[in-house]
Amino acid sequence: MHNGKPFLRWAGSKKRLIPKLLPYWGDGHKRYIEPFMGSAALFFAIEPSDALLSDINSDLIETFCNLRDHPRAVYNRLQKLPLGEDAYYCIRQEYALKSPSLDRAARFIYLNRFCFNGLYRTNLGGKFNVPYAGSKTGSLPSQDDLSYAAKILSCAQIRTRDFSEALQDVQSGDFVYMDPPYAVQNRRIFRQYGPDSFGIEDIARLAAALADIDRSGATFVVSYAMCREAIEAFAGWNIRRAQTQRSVAGFSKHRRKAVELLISNRKLPDGD
Ligand SMILES: C[S@@+](CC[C@H](N)C(=O)[O-])C[C@H]1O[C@@H](n2cnc3c(N)ncnc32)[C@H](O)[C@@H]1O
Repeated sequence: MHNGKPFLRWAGSKKRLIPKLLPYWGDGHKRYIEPFMGSAALFFAIEPSDALLSDINSDLIETFCNLRDHPRAVYNRLQKLPLGEDAYYCIRQEYALKSPSLDRAARFIYLNRFCFNGLYRTNLGGKFNVPYAGSKTGSLPSQDDLSYAAKILSCAQIRTRDFSEALQDVQSGDFVYMDPPYAVQNRRIFRQYGPDSFGIEDIARLAAALADIDRSGATFVVSYAMCREAIEAFAGWNIRRAQTQRSVAGFSKHRRKAVELLISNRKLPDGD
């Protein structure tokens, strides 16, 4: 039974797509690789026994590594942090001043829980600057939530790196799930993951890497917002369309139906 869940909220998380993504994972897969991990919702749903997780966001990776290695210490620090709007802005300021540590990991989880829509955004100086969202974003993860997440993560190597570097590690039998940010020209989609992390030229870079993954004998799945650029870039692979919901202009309260493309070198039987 799959029962793991992410301990972070994350803009663009594919929580709602999990039922459509799970059928691509098969018993024959040896290792799970996720080069745009974010909150790693699919990883937690699958609970693989061997994994390589990575992302370009070094603050995110620092938090995951600290949680995997010291869940109790992170929880102890987290539950001591004061709640409320004033406290949020103090903790946001402290976060920017601290160097990598368990304290900073606890603060990352805190800020992620109470910030606007699970966004990670920084100012030009690289400081996290997402505003407080109020108290309706749910409570902080419990000790059980964090210990369980750490247990699932104990099988994972977790690194800060560009997706192209992660793809160099792909081997036969691996399962590679890629969920890049949307980088569509001429549309009002926020660059939500830090300055210049994924531009339109990166779609071409990703599309070019798919043939190498296929040749190596691994399975890949890419999820991407339906758009002309993606249909063109990923033509030639098996493409499914999945209905999902997307927040409008970053507001999770206002959702509209959207179509996501699932691109893979594995063809699922009809009905899956
Ligand atoms: C849509 S989110 C992934 C969400 C994830 N599937 C989840 O369940 O939470 C995209 C992620 O890609 C990361 N990213 C952006 N550009 C990247 C790059 N060039 N290489 C690796 N990761 C990148 C962002 O930091 C962000 O966490």
